Amino acid sequence: MSDPPYRIVSERLVIRCWEPRDAPRLKEAIDSSLEELRPWMPWARAEPQELSEKVALLRRFRGAFDLGTDFIMGIFDLDEREALGGTGLHKRRSADALEIGYWIRSSHVGQGLATESSAALTRVAFEHCDVDRVEIRVDPANEASLAIPRKLGFVEEGILRRRLPPDEDGVPRDVIVFSLFRDGFVGSPAGSTPVDAFDASGEPVL
Ligand SMILES: CC(C)(COP(=O)(O)OP(=O)(O)OC[C@H]1O[C@@H](n2cnc3c(N)ncnc32)[C@H](O)[C@@H]1OP(=O)(O)O)[C@@H](O)C(=O)NCCC(=O)NCCS
Repeated sequence: MSDPPYRIVSERLVIRCWEPRDAPRLKEAIDSSLEELRPWMPWARAEPQELSEKVALLRRFRGAFDLGTDFIMGIFDLDEREALGGTGLHKRRSADALEIGYWIRSSHVGQGLATESSAALTRVAFEHCDVDRVEIRVDPANEASLAIPRKLGFVEEGILRRRLPPDEDGVPRDVIVFSLFRDGFVGSPAGSTPVDAFDASGEPVL
């Protein structure tokens, strides 16, 4: 498996490795979305964070990206003035698989951005990283999130019970596992999504 590109450009989005200088944009996106993030993203319960904490966090994200251990990315508009959300390709499943996670700032939900970003990452995972499987894991109660793998042709594998961190009332949450295998990717919506991708030096890789 090859490491993901540093910068991915889709129709409306730049999806790229976070940089410490993105801290004010990340903080503003999270702080303005806390009510919608808290039920689904366990880290959001520790928000809001100070700007200095965000700088430290983004240094860790950038470090992990450079070391090839985890690939956490920001989602931006095309001129990169605003952070629209966060996503990533995570190696936490198996050696031939990557898992996609995502959140979109509240002011920009309902425009198909999580679907566009996840389609772009799926294409990169198969065509650049050369994985055999991409996974998306969703809480069964999260209707908006469930729609994304379904729209992209991922197949529902099943429910793992009490496998996510506890909800705000301390109750462990179930998770639905969706996967797309290489043979299903060909001909899927992600297979034809427009994507440009660039390595750390800015050279095109896709
Ligand atoms: C889930 C989330 C990422 C969706 O982002 P988005 O950019 O609005 O997603 P999209 O517009 O690409 O797709 C959402 C789909 O869900 C549908 N949807 C939204 N709310 C819904 C609901 N309550 N019930 C059923 N479907 C719903 C939308 O209609 C859309 O489908 P459509 O394109 O067929 O109309 C965003 O709401 C979010 O960040 N939520 C908080 C964090 C989170 O839940 N992250 C995911 C953890 S697995």
